[in-house]
Amino acid sequence: MPLAVSQTPTIGAEIRGIDLSQDISQENVEWLEAQLVRHKVIFFRDQNIDPAAHLGFARKFGELETHPVNPKEGFSEIMVLHNNAEKPPSGTAVWHSDVTWRAKPSLGSILIARKVPNVGGDTLFADMEAAYEFLDDATQSEIKGMKAIHQFAPMRRYLIESGADAERLARFDLDYPPVLHPLVRTHPVTGRKSLYVNALFTVGIEGVPNDEAKRLLRNLFATAVRPEIQCRFRWQENSIAFWDNRSCQHYATADYYPNERLMERVTIQGDQPF
Ligand code: SIN
Repeated sequence: MPLAVSQTPTIGAEIRGIDLSQDISQENVEWLEAQLVRHKVIFFRDQNIDPAAHLGFARKFGELETHPVNPKEGFSEIMVLHNNAEKPPSGTAVWHSDVTWRAKPSLGSILIARKVPNVGGDTLFADMEAAYEFLDDATQSEIKGMKAIHQFAPMRRYLIESGADAERLARFDLDYPPVLHPLVRTHPVTGRKSLYVNALFTVGIEGVPNDEAKRLLRNLFATAVRPEIQCRFRWQENSIAFWDNRSCQHYATADYYPNERLMERVTIQGDQPF
């Protein structure tokens, strides 16, 4: 039976005693689902799995998404995150939950490290249920029932870098118009509330004047930076992190330039936040 070793009291656990290159039993899939929901992010070491096995493992947890940016050749559901001296790390070094610009953002993301710098490039995770609980009563009341605007726009930069022309960019704008999500979402499994705005994709609040929304959002974004609600993962080659986008945010530390870091990510379709 595998084992979950907590990394902090609130978020993160390392899973030991499981080999993801083998087909895992339904019992273990359900156990992993429970660990994911409980710890919000689970980590695995020394999982030398190929792209097909990465996809096969992810499919145990639901339908997969195709990200419009940087798909892996021959494996459209894998997104490649590659940085080196020519491509300095940038975009994911902002606290966020994945693809909140979709009407149904990812349930979970499974990221494997293919090449890592000797030092640096850690990923931080923040427990957004704890972030919500840290808010004072007045703020909790103020944001109750509010809806935030989430936008694909920050991704345009990557499309331009990958050679997208004006027509392709225009199509993206049509395919991914701004979406609204509640500022406080309820976890569909546990019923727990979490703060659901992020500094990468949340650009405003429905019906709230821009200056006022920016002020409020700045304060809410800042909750993720509290060390008390975080854990930090130091990557090795073939390490995996599997996080629950419904309850946590993450931040990829951009401190390893000009060294190389190559990661591959698969995301599992989620439901509409409520
Ligand atoms: C991501 O934001 O999904 C990537 C995180 C990382 O590269 O550590």
